[in-house]
Amino acid sequence: MFEKMKRTHQCGMLTKENSGQEVTLMGWVQTRRDHGGLIFVDLRDRSGIVQVVFNPEYSREAFETAKEVKTEYVIAVNGKVYERPKESINPKIKTGEIEVFADKLEILNPAKTPPFPIEDDIKVDESLRLKYRYLDLRRPSMLRNITFRHKVSKAIRDFLDENGFIEVETPMLTRSTPEGARDFLVPSRLNPGTFYALPQSPQLFKQILMVAGIERYYQITRCFRDEDLRADRQPEFTQLDIEMSFVDVEDVISLNERLMKYVVEKTMGISLEIPFKRITYKDAMEIYGTDKPDTRFGLEMVDVTDIASKSDFRVFSDAAESGGKVKGINIKNSAELFSRRQIDELVEKAKEFGAKGLAWIIYSGEGIKSPIAKFFSDELLNELLKRMNAQPGDLLVFVADTDPKLVLTSMGQLRLHLGKQLNLIDENSLNFLWVVEFPLLEWDEEENRFVAMHHPFTSPMDEDLDLLEREPSRVRAKAYDLVLNGTEVGGGSIRIHRTDLQERMFKVLGFTKERAWENFGFLLRAFEYGTPPHGGIAYGLDRLVMLLLGLNSIRDCIAFPKTQNAACLMTEAPAPVESRQLKELHIQIAN
Ligand code: AMO
Ligand code: AMP
Repeated sequence: MFEKMKRTHQCGMLTKENSGQEVTLMGWVQTRRDHGGLIFVDLRDRSGIVQVVFNPEYSREAFETAKEVKTEYVIAVNGKVYERPKESINPKIKTGEIEVFADKLEILNPAKTPPFPIEDDIKVDESLRLKYRYLDLRRPSMLRNITFRHKVSKAIRDFLDENGFIEVETPMLTRSTPEGARDFLVPSRLNPGTFYALPQSPQLFKQILMVAGIERYYQITRCFRDEDLRADRQPEFTQLDIEMSFVDVEDVISLNERLMKYVVEKTMGISLEIPFKRITYKDAMEIYGTDKPDTRFGLEMVDVTDIASKSDFRVFSDAAESGGKVKGINIKNSAELFSRRQIDELVEKAKEFGAKGLAWIIYSGEGIKSPIAKFFSDELLNELLKRMNAQPGDLLVFVADTDPKLVLTSMGQLRLHLGKQLNLIDENSLNFLWVVEFPLLEWDEEENRFVAMHHPFTSPMDEDLDLLEREPSRVRAKAYDLVLNGTEVGGGSIRIHRTDLQERMFKVLGFTKERAWENFGFLLRAFEYGTPPHGGIAYGLDRLVMLLLGLNSIRDCIAFPKTQNAACLMTEAPAPVESRQLKELHIQIAN
């Protein structure tokens, strides 16, 4: 009588210790190789691969069935574990010292030939991988990413639980509020003409949870933003969201440093040094030309505006005199590395990044070579070289513009380009950096008003409170971002918890009291009932996992991600719906 097989072991777990044992394995066929009288099957399950041998002398029936088996068939095998003879040991796999001699074989499910091989380092279009995501996820690297992500989430939960945080769920169907990115809207059937919005973050709910006395909240939750996508952005992504009561900036920062240290230690066995370095927003912009500097390498920007103003090079002196900037980067020991053609290419790169040009100075043993040297007196040139900390062998590059921001951002991008081109980045390091003292507000040209840089509930710094009405652009916020290897992984702030300050803030943002109450009434009402001082942070979990794993795309650590067009190639969402459904929702498509 046929007896149903029951799995006893996982393929990848078998070792020499198991030799002599009878085992039943289940999994997918990685490969089948016929060697004259023997058939070898590499059997794979989540734990790894083991070699199964079918020998007609051992079991004729199993051998005959094995002939039918193909790649990705799901099979059950019963057999005995043997140590391999020395010459056939395979050091490349964990189970390479043993093999299983099959006694019984059952095909649990046949499989079509997969559209790409189930192995790493395949050259296949990502769209095909996304369409057959279940096959893609079978590949070892993807399985590793998904497993690692689970470990990160688990470590986060363990740490926060240990530190008195409670995970609270907040609604997915909520109300659309202004500010921030574009909302995804959901029409309400029961309330014709009205819409829910999918949350861009649990921000307002977590603040209300502080009013509710939860004191320490966290949630690992999905957020939705209808924005243009990039390699590190998804329309739905996961946040680790945290909020705490009775805290200031230092409390939030120190808790999060301990959290990151714990997570990295638990998941990677690496001991991070804390506290992390900090830089003010202003310095980050001035030195690195970005609010998320990659400080794994140098090439810092140096301000030479004052020196440039004294030169006869009009581009420089005009920039300096009209409120612009001139900045330089010393590309150390690179004078000989760059041919004239390569310098020209660098100039073109700078232009791609928005600069109007790139001036350069080659400082070699023979002296100075530069198209701009003639505009400098010897004395001024020496002053410039000194400021740039130049030594013979260095290549100096400069950008000037009447728009100071353009100088910073174009040079910031050029710096990153050089870091990569010159291989200055240690891909194995984990460089955490806090960016602090963000501006509270930024001027929005389109709306012709100030908008909140983080969100309208971010608290100004106490030192800058009296500037709020007088010089809004100079007010700094109690806001901080956590940057890892040049990517923003998290951001947060201490919030405004007093109605009087919140009203001043709304006024500066150009919100009337009525409009503020219309949009945020539920939060403002809550704030009237005893609000503790509070603040928090949210991480992009996908981004954090991506960076810890050193991946290039956020999609590689999300089981079912969307494309640049916000489409899911597997389910083919988004898709049209039946007119009956639209009718129920009181919706008509206009075209
Ligand atoms: P913020 O908008 O900075 O802050 O978001 C927090 C973090 O979420 C990640 N992130 C994204 N990841 C993938 N795809 C996206 N489209 C995307 N957008 C953001 C980033 C970012 O640092 N409520 C505030 C936090 C707070 O103040 O506590 C918030 O949402 O890594
Ligand atoms: P030009 O006088 O336009 O030939 O420029 C002389 C040098 O200055 C060239 O090397 C240009 O690339 C460089 N240059 C031009 N505009 C700028 C600018 N805005 N910032 C820095 N360098 C510039």
